[in-house]
Amino acid sequence: MTAISTWMKEERRDLEMNEYHEQYWGSFIKRISPKDEIKGKTVLDFGCGCGGFLRMLHDQRQFKDGVGIDIAEKSLETARSLVANRPIEYLLAKDADKFKGKVDYAFSYEVIYLMQDLAEHADFIGSFLKPGGVYYAATGCHTGNPQWFDWKKIIVNESVLPLKDYAPDDFVDAFQAKGWKVGVCRLDHRDFVSVVHKDYFPKVEDAIRYYADDIQVFRFEKQK
Ligand SMILES: C[S@@+](CC[C@H](N)C(=O)[O-])C[C@H]1O[C@@H](n2cnc3c(N)ncnc32)[C@H](O)[C@@H]1O
Repeated sequence: MTAISTWMKEERRDLEMNEYHEQYWGSFIKRISPKDEIKGKTVLDFGCGCGGFLRMLHDQRQFKDGVGIDIAEKSLETARSLVANRPIEYLLAKDADKFKGKVDYAFSYEVIYLMQDLAEHADFIGSFLKPGGVYYAATGCHTGNPQWFDWKKIIVNESVLPLKDYAPDDFVDAFQAKGWKVGVCRLDHRDFVSVVHKDYFPKVEDAIRYYADDIQVFRFEKQK
């Protein structure tokens, strides 16, 4: 995949997006099953952008080491500048081979819907995970979101990658076809939501519904 500068056409909005998502990552972390112990393990964040999710996960769950992967070189630079002394590397996929077969838990937040080929994506994540490793992917960008087709027009306008129209079943089917075990739940964010994006959320209820109900968290478990 050819590298890009930032996913958002306006560079400053890339870090803004990472800071905006921060309020919801806590709910994503809460959805991690109690049987999945993160402490002391190796983790991967796919489509890490400016890297905030791994910084939060490390501060809350003290993983041993982590890698954030993205195709956006400027976002990775920003992520590196913010890492402080945490054991995290932020890399382009082509530079991350040393993590292949070493990862216990992979994550992605609002990235899986950008994949052009879900079977290829399952293989890519699978190449990093150990046998029995788990991939948590969260997204509300799917046709089950009643606003998806309006959002698609906005996202296409403000970002640089093409979009498809996935139903939640498409994510499930792609991983099941590869022999992964799949579970799904809602993000179920029951805290305050930010009300800054009137274009995405014309009504306050839209934002409340999106973060409680539309964002789904998929748990994909690779075969042992
Ligand atoms: C909507 S942003 C989400 C960023 C971050 N996960 C967050 O929570 O703020 C999507 C990210 O996925 C990255 N991305 C898209 N396609 C990718 C690919 N094929 N490989 C790696 N990263 C990708 C983009 O560059 C962008 O940083």
